[in-house]
Amino acid sequence: MKLIDPMDFSFDPFLANMQGNILKGHGRDHTTHIFLQFDKGSEEAVREWIKVLSGDITSLKKQLRDRELYKRNNIKDGLFTAFFLTAAGYKYLDFKEVETKFADPAFKAGMKERLAVSNDPAVEQWEKCFRQEIHAMILLADDERNRMATRARNILETIDGFSTVTGVEYGNVIRNADGEGIEHFGYVDGISQPLFLKDEVDAWMKFHNTNPEKAFFDPTADSDLVLIKDPYVNDPDAYGSYFVFRKLEQNVKGFKEAEEKLDMGELAGAWLVGRFEDGSPVVLTDDEGMIGAGNYNNFNYNNDPSGGRCPYFAHTRKTNPRKDVSPGDDHKSHIMARRGIPFGHRNVDTAIHPCDLQLPEGGVGLLFMSYQRSIQNQFEFIQSKWANSPDFPSGPNPGVDAIIGQVAGQHPATHAYQFPLDYGSDKLTDPPLTFSQFVTMKGGEYFFAPSISFLKSLAQPA
Ligand code: HEM
Repeated sequence: MKLIDPMDFSFDPFLANMQGNILKGHGRDHTTHIFLQFDKGSEEAVREWIKVLSGDITSLKKQLRDRELYKRNNIKDGLFTAFFLTAAGYKYLDFKEVETKFADPAFKAGMKERLAVSNDPAVEQWEKCFRQEIHAMILLADDERNRMATRARNILETIDGFSTVTGVEYGNVIRNADGEGIEHFGYVDGISQPLFLKDEVDAWMKFHNTNPEKAFFDPTADSDLVLIKDPYVNDPDAYGSYFVFRKLEQNVKGFKEAEEKLDMGELAGAWLVGRFEDGSPVVLTDDEGMIGAGNYNNFNYNNDPSGGRCPYFAHTRKTNPRKDVSPGDDHKSHIMARRGIPFGHRNVDTAIHPCDLQLPEGGVGLLFMSYQRSIQNQFEFIQSKWANSPDFPSGPNPGVDAIIGQVAGQHPATHAYQFPLDYGSDKLTDPPLTFSQFVTMKGGEYFFAPSISFLKSLAQPA
């Protein structure tokens, strides 16, 4: 499928049948995630309830129209709703052919069965919400927290009697002094994304003053990267997407203290993340970069074979090498649409640069979320084959991903890294310097975001 132009009305049925947030982030500041396990023997009630809920699901078409209204009339986007099922959820609803209808082995097995692939902590160490069998998740998102909370309470009331809530998670955008969305270590996040909509690609090319032929990095993506035909609906416009949810706790105090101990100033963090806090890519020299252009994304690592500007263990270089690294393997086929949001309360506003003593050691982090056409080939591939692998990519100083790298059975693990001696230098610190893992996986699950027509009809299994 090609780039999607929302102004081309031939896409209308497709946009109206697809859940929002897949091809473009919903853009709201607050989220509520309700995890459900349906009670035994209540299949009829659950089906009926999903059919009713389907009327409230925000389609991509509605999401785009709301955004346009906001741009033109400053009318704030309304409540956003999405719904997801796990493989166990489909089976509960008596869709017996899950094993043959869905191709992705990771989705079919569920995250608990795949933790050895990602080197995740044992299930006993996960939070209670995720240790249980999960059948479905509802995602609510809004800029108005009270409206969202009222809706969440209303939903919780409607499911009483046929469903158990295994847990509820809350996401909240946090910002730096420039108003940019950051993650809890303080770095601007969500800059590099595959782009599926024509207007987004046009805006990206304009911002970077380039075109797809000349760009050093082309974010243009075919929607096939994240969509598959909805296996249970016989409609050419019915698409869905596999969805990953992971609760990743961040020890911010530990990270900042360890970063300071490296004694490299701002470069330390930039070498661990791959971008400075404001988002500027560390691989760009002063001549190539642009002050204040944190959203700059037109770069690759071709001029930095030694890793002297951006080490190979930097998070962004590990999770997107920006070129093919293994013969016959298209690196772009592994990229996901990331839709994460920070969680947890901070006592001190992030925008005023809290000092170390004011930083949380736990209870905050990232609700990592991603859409893809294959969890095995995208999220799991990036986490296991790239981030966790100390030998990827072959280069002078690889190592596991400095932010999310995981070692089986060691949580947190401590890693040894050879940093460049100076910016751009191919000489490396010898002996290597140690740096620990400050991100801990607390649980999660694999889901599918079905088409809206599936939810509406909730057709009886064939
Ligand atoms: C708490 C955990 C995490 C933190 C703090 C974090 C932080 C960041 C930051 C600051 C960026 C740079 C902004 C950008 O380029 O968009 C980034 C980019 C990225 N992250 Fe993460 N991330 C986390 C988890 C993950 C996970 C679990 C994955 C996948 C397995 C992942 C994959 C990526 C990818 C693919 C990029 C874009 C790289 C590029 O295209 O240049 N991240 N992350």
